[in-house]
Amino acid sequence: MDISNRVGSMQFSPIRRFNKYGFEAEANGKTVYRLNIGQPDVETPPCFKEAINNFDKKVIAYAESGGVTELLDAMIDYMKLYDMHYTRDDILITNGGSEALTLIFTALLNPGEEALIAEPFYTNYNTFCNQVNGKLVPLTTKAEDGYAWAKKDLIEAAITPQTKAICCISPGNPTGRVLTLDEMKLVGEIAKEHDLWIISDEVYREFAYDGREVTSFGMLEDLADRVVLVDSVSKRYSACGARVGAVISKNKDLMSGILKLAQGRLCCPTLEQVGAAALYRLDKSYYDSAREEYCARRDAAYEEISKIPGVVCQKPGGAFYLTAKLPVEDVEDFLMFMLTEFDDNGETVMFTPASGFYATPGLGKDEMRIAYVLEPAKMRRGAELIKLGIEAYNKKLGK
Ligand SMILES: Cc1ncc(COP(=O)(O)O)c(C=O)c1O
Repeated sequence: MDISNRVGSMQFSPIRRFNKYGFEAEANGKTVYRLNIGQPDVETPPCFKEAINNFDKKVIAYAESGGVTELLDAMIDYMKLYDMHYTRDDILITNGGSEALTLIFTALLNPGEEALIAEPFYTNYNTFCNQVNGKLVPLTTKAEDGYAWAKKDLIEAAITPQTKAICCISPGNPTGRVLTLDEMKLVGEIAKEHDLWIISDEVYREFAYDGREVTSFGMLEDLADRVVLVDSVSKRYSACGARVGAVISKNKDLMSGILKLAQGRLCCPTLEQVGAAALYRLDKSYYDSAREEYCARRDAAYEEISKIPGVVCQKPGGAFYLTAKLPVEDVEDFLMFMLTEFDDNGETVMFTPASGFYATPGLGKDEMRIAYVLEPAKMRRGAELIKLGIEAYNKKLGK
């Protein structure tokens, strides 16, 4: 008996694929700094659990497929903080940003149709897009150029008759690139000219550093009909396990198509939506303090990683990831060494090989992505372990 070719040709997530070696290292008594996954150690604001504790209905019933009203209303008010104005019909609650993306690709792409995306990109887009037999077409960017991709010639050279959408992840995972509003306008002009959708993944919206503005495609009214936003509580509120996200668009056909898909899966968890409503009602000052915390983590990580001889990396402008070229040929092999052979005082570190973040074969083999999700002192120690690991690994290889 066969399984489908679709699933057969998919990858396991490079972010999670090495977990078993991490667990084994821990079982052998090592401490593993987990910089492989965007799972912050920041406390989830207590209002999430308080709201759930105050839930007073006797039955935990199905919610509406589009989401519970109090969450939709809280999101509408949150978006107003940035002068973006939506109604309940423009928002559909999903199981995290991940399900939002799966629904969007399903609703937009016919088999063989293409979506442009700057590479390196968040690796799970491969899974979201391959599920519907769509094709991601990479716009290759480089650290030396600050991972810039909002360029007319670069984008237009990749457009074919099959192109249906431009995916934008800003602030970006894994590069930290933050699009300015002018860059968003340029992408918008190209989308209008070629009649394309804009899928804008803004799950890191507030994590923009060094005075960069919070930007959103939702701020550009003239694009309203072709823009679909992806939102999530996972990163913004350090509530990854809540699994609450959203599709947001003023395009009625798209929202109605997505509602059909959402009705098929009934609803998202009712209690988590109640908790998430309280998160979206947090004061704006919450975002400022979260930004400050991640900026300190970014500074610690960048300072230490960029000191490692032979490393090439850029200071990320947003989100909480850093991609770096390492002085090793095969980062995946180096990671296995770190997890199975190396330790310094009983400690080692886990990161993600970056090749899975590229669609172009061969790229990223000597790059890693780290998530700066731990407090600054741990980020510094994590970077030190990478430095010591590179020395030990290259010595083992006789380099
Ligand atoms: C760019 C981006 N989009 C979407 C997601 C999905 O997150 P979630 O499903 O937890 O909302 C992630 C998670 O790391 C991400 O980095």
